[in-house]
Amino acid sequence: MKRKLLGLVLGTSLVFTLAACGGDDNAADEPAGDNGGTATTASADKIFQQNCAACHGQDLTGGAGPDISKVGSKYDQEKIASIIENGQGGMRGGIIQGEEKDAVAAWLSEKK
Ligand code: HEC
Repeated sequence: MKRKLLGLVLGTSLVFTLAACGGDDNAADEPAGDNGGTATTASADKIFQQNCAACHGQDLTGGAGPDISKVGSKYDQEKIASIIENGQGGMRGGIIQGEEKDAVAAWLSEKK
């Protein structure tokens, strides 16, 4: 597995080196790394749909729970994580935990 990945990385940079000869065609093809952000955003959305949308709506505009479509301008990521962790008013805490909680808190903190 590891060796295969290494080969892929080396292969990619070889092709890149050959292709970029003289050019200034940087980072566009960077292997790995970059996809992390997209994956986290996508999965935060999914986690939200599965655990939170029933009360807050698929588009975050609320239902049984309040509208949180602009919650990022009200609370920062840390505060949102703590609300998810501890609950607030009619919402119980601990619905999601760990990385899922962090991903959703980060995602919600961008909703402004
Ligand atoms: C059972 C319904 C229900 C579920 C499921 C639920 N919530 Fe809530 N949520 C509420 C209610 C009701 C409130 C309002 C609590 C209060 O302040 O009285 C709330 C409040 C919040 C707030 C604070 C909003 C504010 O403006 O103060 C955030 C952030 C939040 N929820 C995020 C989430 C996330 C993320 C999930 C999924 C992990 C989730 N909620 C799941 C019902 C729910």
